[in-house]
Amino acid sequence: MGGKDMKPAMAGRVGNGTARGDKRTHRLALIGFGVVSQGLVEILLKTEERLSALGTSLQVVAISDPQKGSLYHPAGLDLAEIVRTIDQAGNLAGYPETPGLARGWDSLTTIARSNADTVIEATYTNIATGQPGLDHCRAALAAGKNVVTTNKGPVALAYDELLALAAEKGVRFAFEGTVMSGTPTLRLLATSLAGNQILGIRGILNGTTNYILTRMEDGFGYAEALSEAQRLGYAEADPGNDVEGYDALYKLLILGHVLFNRSIAPASVARRGISQLAPADIARAKEEGKRWKLIAKITRDGEDLSASVVPEMLPLADPLAGVGGATNAMTYDCDLSGAITVVGAGAGRIETGYALLIDCVNVVRGER
Ligand code: HSE
Repeated sequence: MGGKDMKPAMAGRVGNGTARGDKRTHRLALIGFGVVSQGLVEILLKTEERLSALGTSLQVVAISDPQKGSLYHPAGLDLAEIVRTIDQAGNLAGYPETPGLARGWDSLTTIARSNADTVIEATYTNIATGQPGLDHCRAALAAGKNVVTTNKGPVALAYDELLALAAEKGVRFAFEGTVMSGTPTLRLLATSLAGNQILGIRGILNGTTNYILTRMEDGFGYAEALSEAQRLGYAEADPGNDVEGYDALYKLLILGHVLFNRSIAPASVARRGISQLAPADIARAKEEGKRWKLIAKITRDGEDLSASVVPEMLPLADPLAGVGGATNAMTYDCDLSGAITVVGAGAGRIETGYALLIDCVNVVRGER
C-alpha cells in the first residue's frame, strides 16, 4: 500500500476523491466479471464528473472471476487498462504488472482480504441453491463489508438471514438490480411511493418471455423466438428458468419481501410458463383485441397475500399490454396514489450496471 504505487490508484479512481483514505473514496471489489460488472466498469469510466457532483468517488480495488482471472491492488485498478485487456484477450492476464498488484485470488480470498468497502456480487444466478452468490454475500457481510448485488438467488432464498447479518454488522445489503435491472422498482416504495399501502402488484418481470410473445405476434415460431432471445443475451443460462416462469417467480419473492414485508413460499405461487402457448393461442388473442403476457402478481386480501406467475390475455387498454419486446413493467396498486405503472429495461449490460451504480451511490449516502 506504499505511496509509490499511486499510478493505478489515480488512474483507477473514479470521482473527486483527493487521496487514498479520503472519506469520499469508496472501494469496490467486483466478484464475477461478466457482462453486468463490465457494464459497471464502463459506466464508472464515463461518469466521473456526475459522480463527483453527487459527492461520490468509487474506486475498483479488486476483480475476481474464475474464468477471466483475478486482480487486486489496494490503491485501485486502472479501469481503462481493464477494459483494454478484456477487449484484447477476453481475460485479465495481460493487465500490466505494477508494484503491490496481487493476482489469482479466488472470490472468498478477495472478499476476506481486500480493503474493499463494498463487495459487488455479480456471479450467475442459481435459483435452486443461490450459490455461489449466497456464500459470497454471507462472507462479505460477516467481514463487515457492504454487499451490492444483481444476483436474484441469494436475495430470494436468504433475504431475512442476509438483512439480519447486515444489520448486525452495521453494513448495507442492496439489490435494486435483481428486479427490472436499473428501472427503479424496489426502492420506489421507500422513496416516491412512501406512505402508500400497496394493495397489489402486477408485472411483466421477465424480458425473455415478453420478447418471445412479441415475436410470436410478429409471426415467428416459439423455438425461433427463443433462440433469438438467447442470442440477444436476455435469457438465463438455463432458458427453462425464463420460459417456465421461475425467473419471474423469484423476482416476485423479492418483491414480496420488499413491498409487502412478507416471505412468500415458492410452492405457494401458482406458476405456469409460456412454453404451452401455440401460434393458434396468439391468433385467438389478436382476434379478441387482446395480447398474451406472462403476468407476475401479488394481491393483498386483508392479511393474506396470493401470488402467481401465469400467462394472461390482457385487453389492449391495460398499460401492461402495450409493453413489447424485452421491456419490463410493473403496476403498483396503491391505496393513496392509485395505480402507477413503471416501464423500463429489465436486463442489459449498461442498464443492469446502472442498478449496481445507484446501489453504490445509496450505500455511500447511507454511510453519511
Ligand atoms: N433472464 C432474465 C429476463 C434476465 O429475461 O428477464 C433479467 O433478470
